[in-house]
Amino acid sequence: MADANWWQTGTIYQIYPRSFADSNGDGIGDLAGITSRLDYLASLPVDAIWLSPFYPSPMADFGYDVADYCGVHPLFGTLEDFDALTTAAHARGIKVIVDWVPCHCSDQHPWFIEAKASRDNPRRDWFVWRDPAPGGGSPNNWLSCFEGVGPAWTFDEASGQYYLHSFLPEQPDLNWENPELRAAMHDTLRFWMDRGVDGFRIDVTHRLGKDPQLRDNPPGVVADTRLALLEGYRADAVAAAARMDENWPSTHDRLREIRAVADEYNARVLIGEVYLLDQGELVKYVATGDELHLAHNFRFVLQPWSAARFRDVVDEWHALAPTTAWPDWLLENHDHNRVASRYGDDDASQARARLGLMMVLTLRGTPFLYQGQELALPDGDVPADRVVDVAGRDPERCPMPWQPPSQAGPGAGFTTGEPWLPVLPGAESLNAQSQDTDPRSALWLTRRLLGLRRDFAELTTGDYQPLDAGPDVYAYLRCKDRGRLLVVLNFGTKPTRLALAAVAGAAGGQLLLSTDPHRGTGPVSDSVELGSTEGVMIALT
Ligand code: NOJ
Ligand code: CA
Repeated sequence: MADANWWQTGTIYQIYPRSFADSNGDGIGDLAGITSRLDYLASLPVDAIWLSPFYPSPMADFGYDVADYCGVHPLFGTLEDFDALTTAAHARGIKVIVDWVPCHCSDQHPWFIEAKASRDNPRRDWFVWRDPAPGGGSPNNWLSCFEGVGPAWTFDEASGQYYLHSFLPEQPDLNWENPELRAAMHDTLRFWMDRGVDGFRIDVTHRLGKDPQLRDNPPGVVADTRLALLEGYRADAVAAAARMDENWPSTHDRLREIRAVADEYNARVLIGEVYLLDQGELVKYVATGDELHLAHNFRFVLQPWSAARFRDVVDEWHALAPTTAWPDWLLENHDHNRVASRYGDDDASQARARLGLMMVLTLRGTPFLYQGQELALPDGDVPADRVVDVAGRDPERCPMPWQPPSQAGPGAGFTTGEPWLPVLPGAESLNAQSQDTDPRSALWLTRRLLGLRRDFAELTTGDYQPLDAGPDVYAYLRCKDRGRLLVVLNFGTKPTRLALAAVAGAAGGQLLLSTDPHRGTGPVSDSVELGSTEGVMIALT
């Protein structure tokens, strides 16, 4: 790892633009709002921001239904605002990654409007159309990934055919078998790279290739794998490799072409949302060096609160991937409940969120943080009459609280108007300004972790060695040259004592950081006691 790339050593921070910062009081976050908060991001510091979609969109899926790949929705601003944001981010050493949504567009995109106009329209084949099954009904048994939607097919009365949608009917799937569609989508990548973006997060990457014959899925395929794993089903009972509606081998051909487009430019990064729970399939996306640079790992995101389970995922990834492949780790994004809520709402919720921060920022691989994770935010409370998302994801999308409502008003510094989703009930203490002045806060913990990542190359380019430290403890070494950093994460609800000689072959060390805000730093001799749900980092001597 002599010549590590920025996307390997850096930390990437996800911004959900609607909920980050509102500059004009309409209750919806926007690009100028993000620009106004760049100093905060530089103070963490993060190395790159990934912006969820800000393109023109009817917002059926809050921007993941794109009506123009090369524009900005007026709610979020203008292309000039985007350029100003990019320039201001770059001036602070922060790279800009945009979300690219190639699996589907909006049903209001001109391409689909044309395709729908008639069976012989030149754009017809840019989407996936099929006659009804013999005897009527959907052409096959594929389901939408959104549980409530049902079949992945909607009938178009006018032309007498069904079209495919992996998500909402308002999100028709693009047909990546069609070379003209591919070329048009490649041009949208060039459009943003010409404007200076440093890379793309590719939405639903694993659905760029599907069985061209559209054969039925095997029985047992579930609609929403996210729900499936958390609820304890074997979501991977139907191996990803056996499915017809995603992860078809052609996906890898499509990605090689996309990578070639990215490589026309200098140092751009491709990060895939590869929602496959089978890590054997997942690593194929980053294994050969000519597809993705990074692939998000949802097997990791969806683990129960268990030291052994998280360790198994990380160890399996390393066992499966070639040494040239690079992992990345995230625990939160705009599609999953936040750590402080996901595993229960009890006295240990904050401690779990802090432990999660230490894990994700010390494993070998690129860490991703989702806005507000650095504040250990819980999910918001969204009453039934304020629900707006089709798939129950409003709670993790509640606005970023910047200031105490007692000072900034009910919008908590996010907006001076009525926020599109409710502000967190705990915003009075759980906000960026209050945490900034509190050395015991999650924000300070995050800054210390990010500082250690800069100070200790062990944490970025060092090796990873898992250790056996008891059933509730996930412990590992990060090693580089002679440096050995020990990370010990106690997932259990009881204190535990760790003997350094037995576990890590060390006589002592310096405790650099604890997730417990009441514990100081300093020398450790032969053993260290960890509190319940506490994580520590020790530089071994
Ligand atoms: C994944 C995105 O993260 C999610 O928010 C969206 O609903 C689906 N892809 C469909 O684009
Ligand atoms: Ca606004």
